[in-house]
Amino acid sequence: MDRIRVKDKEFKVSISQAEIAKEVERVAQEINEELKGEEPLFISVLNGSFMFTSDLLKHIRIPNQISFVKLASYEGVASTGEVKEVIGINEDITNRTIVIIEDIVDTGLTMQRLLETLGTRNPKKIYIASLLVKPGKLKVDLNIDFVAFKIPNDFILGYGLDYDGYARNLPEIYTVVD
Ligand code: IMP
Repeated sequence: MDRIRVKDKEFKVSISQAEIAKEVERVAQEINEELKGEEPLFISVLNGSFMFTSDLLKHIRIPNQISFVKLASYEGVASTGEVKEVIGINEDITNRTIVIIEDIVDTGLTMQRLLETLGTRNPKKIYIASLLVKPGKLKVDLNIDFVAFKIPNDFILGYGLDYDGYARNLPEIYTVVD
């Protein structure tokens, strides 16, 4: 399946299953190396990270725990636009090494919000692992420790990422065709 149509848009494969598997394993090895001696708590950001999280964690060889969070959008009381609230952190993260697992860092605003929220709970250190980064779209200064792919600004889907809720199940990554 090289090309697919989702709702009003057409997409073509831009990253194959084999390439994803290779780079996800490489990222896991980097985490195993860098965090040797640590017992990190992985915090996976739903929904988009479910596939990446599952594949990544199969290659992690250091002792670890895993938890899942979601970002709930709601309108701010003033005209500040969309505000996102992090829900689902039940663990005590005081003095813990955290690895946030994200599907994609686009503007970086979601990640910034997560870092702010987790930062107030006194973790030892927070690392970021993102499957994809669009460096051309970053609006905030972020240090992303582990990255599988740096990609152009185009809209993508598959391997956890969606278009209007569809196509998260696809094992490849697809880019929109204009
Ligand atoms: P940011 O706050 O702009 O960095 O956006 C991050 C979130 O936007 C991700 O977690 C995704 O859910 C979504 N997103 C950003 N770019 C894409 C894309 O190309 N395809 C699908 N979802 C995307």
